[in-house]
Amino acid sequence: MVNKSVILTLFISHSLFSMFYDASCPNLTRIVRYGVWMAVSNDTRMAASLLRLHFHDCFVNGCDGSLLLDDTNTFKGEKNALPNVNSVRGYEVIDNIKAVLEKVCPCVVSCTDIVTLAAREAVYLAGGPFWQIPLGRRDGTTASESEANQLPSPLEPLENIIAKFTSKGLNVKDLVALSGGHTFGFARCMMFKHRLFNFDGAGNPDPELDVMLRQNLENNCPNQDDSNNNFAPLDAYTINRFDNVYYRNLVNKLGLLQSDQALMKDNTTASLVVNYSRYPYLFYRDFGASMVKLANTGILTGQKGEIRKNCRMVN
Ligand code: HEM
Ligand SMILES: *[C@@H]1O[C@H](CO)[C@@H](O)[C@H](O)[C@H]1NC(C)=O
Ligand SMILES: *[C@@H]1O[C@H](CO)[C@@H](O)[C@H](O)[C@H]1NC(C)=O
Ligand SMILES: *[C@@H]1O[C@H](CO)[C@@H](O)[C@H](O)[C@H]1NC(C)=O
Ligand SMILES: *[C@@H]1O[C@H](CO)[C@@H](O)[C@H](O)[C@H]1NC(C)=O
Repeated sequence: MVNKSVILTLFISHSLFSMFYDASCPNLTRIVRYGVWMAVSNDTRMAASLLRLHFHDCFVNGCDGSLLLDDTNTFKGEKNALPNVNSVRGYEVIDNIKAVLEKVCPCVVSCTDIVTLAAREAVYLAGGPFWQIPLGRRDGTTASESEANQLPSPLEPLENIIAKFTSKGLNVKDLVALSGGHTFGFARCMMFKHRLFNFDGAGNPDPELDVMLRQNLENNCPNQDDSNNNFAPLDAYTINRFDNVYYRNLVNKLGLLQSDQALMKDNTTASLVVNYSRYPYLFYRDFGASMVKLANTGILTGQKGEIRKNCRMVN
């Protein structure tokens, strides 16, 4: 006989829901919120860094905390993959939150759910939207450096980036909405310097880059190798604020990365950009919906994976 509890167990073990930890760790949201708040009070940029940490966790191997695993002699993780090394930040913030949670509700909350919640809190704290997050993801026991090296690059054509998103179940609208993540945070000069000094191989700058912005960027990123690790804000106008100014920038040729500005070169993506530049609440609504989709990619539920005790290593 199939009784109610069997049905309930089946349901619980195969889908996420926002009340997942309500009984097992009722203060989870409060603890994550406080941890993010502390980190961002000390370092404003950390809000952006936590959002990116979540993106890079989910886009490689699914949202499974794979990015958090440290390399060891016998294990190669994702932290040293090219898009991540010297670039992804916020690992200590997750460690600190996990340490508090291990005291209050040990072995209950997955590291990948902490990252997911931290990204949501970070966006909200920076002035952005708030959305409900289904929970119950479990942590993976593997990582993939090679897949991490396939994360979208700012130098690749829009069609490639669209294909990478499509392969994760994210459509063009998701891509344009999630690109709004570049409304805060920073990028190193090496990621956009070619646009300033040699876009075409003949020493000319990118014609799709506003001249005033370019001249300002040249101060930060002079044409010498030792400026590669200097950085500039992705959104020069509201540097630390999560808003729709990113899209207004793109309309005005003020995108920092080539891949950002490319959204204006395709009619479908450009139309979405224009709409988000005009209607902040449309952007906020779509961003939240696309974040939920992103946070559902390749998840482990039920008996799969584990609840890591230390986010940096498998149990
Ligand atoms: C669409 C393809 C994407 C490309 C090509 C891309 C590329 C980049 C690059 C090159 C940087 C600068 C990294 C550095 O110089 O260290 C960056 C930073 C950032 N990205 Fe993306 N990104 C993409 C999508 C996303 C998405 C979907 C999100 C989140 C929803 C996101 C959030 C961020 C944030 C917040 C930062 C700043 C991080 C910080 O300051 O610590 N990006 N991205
Ligand atoms: C949750 O946090 C509140 C406020 O800090 C505290 O009073 C309460 O005891 C906590 N509950 C649990 C179950 O830890
Ligand atoms: C505060 O932020 C700085 C970087 O801006 C970092 O080096 C330091 O470890 C942070 N301190 C705490 C307590 O998080
Ligand atoms: C895209 O927009 C351009 C310029 O507005 C127009 O010339 C072109 O026909 C459009 N292409 C498509 C496929 O709609
Ligand atoms: C942008 O908004 C206009 C006017 O509301 C609408 O007709 C159009 O379909 C929207 N574009 C996209 C790509 O959603």
